[in-house]
Amino acid sequence: MALLQARHFCKDFGAVNVIPDLSIDIQEGDFTVLVGPSGCGKSTLLRMIAGLEDITRGELLIDGRLANDLHPRERGISMVFQSYALYPHMSVSENIGFGLKLEGCSKAEIKQRVGDVADALQLGELLHRRPAQLSGGQRQRVAIGRAIVRKPRIILFDEPLSNLDAKLRVEMRMELMKFHSNHGITTIYVTHDQVEAMTMASRIAVMEKGQIRQFDTPKKLFDAPTDPFVAGFIGSPQMNLFEVSKVDGKTLVTKEGATISFAGLSSDRIGHAATIGVRPEHVSIGGKEGELAFMARVDLIENLGDESIVHLVSGTQKITARAFYGAECRVDQEVRLGFREANTHMFDQAGQRLA
Ligand SMILES: Nc1ncnc2c1ncn2[C@@H]1O[C@H](COP(=O)(O)OP(=O)(O)OP(=O)(O)O)[C@@H](O)[C@H]1O
Ligand SMILES: [Mg+2]
Repeated sequence: MALLQARHFCKDFGAVNVIPDLSIDIQEGDFTVLVGPSGCGKSTLLRMIAGLEDITRGELLIDGRLANDLHPRERGISMVFQSYALYPHMSVSENIGFGLKLEGCSKAEIKQRVGDVADALQLGELLHRRPAQLSGGQRQRVAIGRAIVRKPRIILFDEPLSNLDAKLRVEMRMELMKFHSNHGITTIYVTHDQVEAMTMASRIAVMEKGQIRQFDTPKKLFDAPTDPFVAGFIGSPQMNLFEVSKVDGKTLVTKEGATISFAGLSSDRIGHAATIGVRPEHVSIGGKEGELAFMARVDLIENLGDESIVHLVSGTQKITARAFYGAECRVDQEVRLGFREANTHMFDQAGQRLA
């Protein structure tokens, strides 16, 4: 049985419904990542699980027991916020131990547990400082310390690394991954960072407008997105999506006016496709025999050192190609593009993936 189950969650803020009907099962020990556009309901979902927000309709089960009406402290859940929300007038050790004090733990026990957590997070030297005397990464660790000192079964993170600079973010990401593999605490983690999502998650839930579009392993999400939204959301630069306007013999025209030839293909899958997706790394400049092919004009080349991102246009259709070790083309050049059918993601009119 899943450790945590959200069943038919619905959330209204006054007259506005932000989560219509959402269900998800979280397995014990998993590192679940929630991603989705701003405003899709990620924080709201975490807050409903934590007990900081009412569940308008639906059931929250923890270990199979109904938890809707449990006080946040009784749920065995801790939450780490983006802002850290540390108490500025308290020292690091008081910040970490505050929750235990509220629970009525003895001074000796608080000292012991705060000490253990400080050791695990390398905060031992900093216990007497106040938050203002710490770096961003250290504050972040204090916030995590405060969450784990209560020995939660589930820990919720709402964009915990987004205030840190790029280098520190990478370091903290690795620390969090090590922490998870050492302690195995069931984790739900919200991020806007695709690399964090792909590298940290056992499973990723991609949300849109209060709904979960796909809940899968990072690899499955990347290799076989089940709908065009997920296809466009996971991957950077994002997947090229062509909306088919009409098919005529062995060519198709996209809604944006690109004419793609698919002569030489044996499969008739393309005849059922309303949307065709292809990742930038699968678009070849020059094109080869047996590929779907079309002409486009180079609009901009972004040189990143080991790779180039080439932005092209065909009609008003924008296309991105990723070329490793430099692109052999120049701005304004008309080039032939090609991609293999095996590398396409096709979706029908209803947005269902075509096998
Ligand atoms: N207290 C509130 N009252 C009214 N509307 C709210 C409240 N909190 C959130 N919302 C609305 O609910 C929707 C979901 O918000 P939420 O904060 O969960 O999004 P999010 O996915 O976390 O976005 P972001 O990535 O920007 O943090 C948004 O449209 C937001 O404006
Ligand atoms: Mg949020």
